[in-house]
Amino acid sequence: MTLVSCSMLSCDFSRMGEELKRVSDTGADMAHLDVMDGAFVPNITFGAPVIKKLLPYKTIPFETHLMIENPEKYISDFRNAGSDIIIVHQEATNHLDRLVNQIKESGAKAGVALNPGTSLHSVEEVLGDIDILLLMTVNPGFGGQKYIPYVTDKIRRAAEIRKERGFNYLIECDGGVDGETGKTAANAGCDILVSGSYLFKSGNIGETIRGLKSN
Ligand code: DX5
Ligand code: ZN
Repeated sequence: MTLVSCSMLSCDFSRMGEELKRVSDTGADMAHLDVMDGAFVPNITFGAPVIKKLLPYKTIPFETHLMIENPEKYISDFRNAGSDIIIVHQEATNHLDRLVNQIKESGAKAGVALNPGTSLHSVEEVLGDIDILLLMTVNPGFGGQKYIPYVTDKIRRAAEIRKERGFNYLIECDGGVDGETGKTAANAGCDILVSGSYLFKSGNIGETIRGLKSN
């Protein structure tokens, strides 16, 4: 059984609250909120004020995926906007340990994300301290891209390290997840599948979420 975190990046932004309610009511375990600043990634989405406006519609945890430079400046803003989990990129900070602690001190769960080309070794030292390890299965910036197959091996290694060293982080995969790639990632050890365009394009979002969860 895999958890499904629905990326709101592919929803109708003019009705974001209702879209959140729709995916929550049909079985998504979490809402995945992709924050992009046009600097760390070549695209701009939304920030903390928009997330805060979703609070009246919130029935499932918010996980906020920060694809921004200087994330340490904004942790309290995203926490105050209702983020239960805050995920930062290893590539976006020189002080990962400090940033992970900052997130935990804010009261949120801490996640660390790695771009496809970034090695697991770069986060080895903090693996015992984090709640979620997010492995990007596309280059971040856009929805609707293709799953990069070589990341499957990274998922497998992340699961092995967790077992060998007795860590507790959940492994999450983000990008290009559909029925087939979701199965591949889950079989390799992924606990949480992020899915955006596949869910919102499907005719029956509830059934599609159930399909992903059954992995
Ligand atoms: C990409 C984002 C993903 C993306 C997933 O930069 O971090 O969360 O929205 O979208 P799909 O499922 O369409 O690849
Ligand atoms: Zn994301």
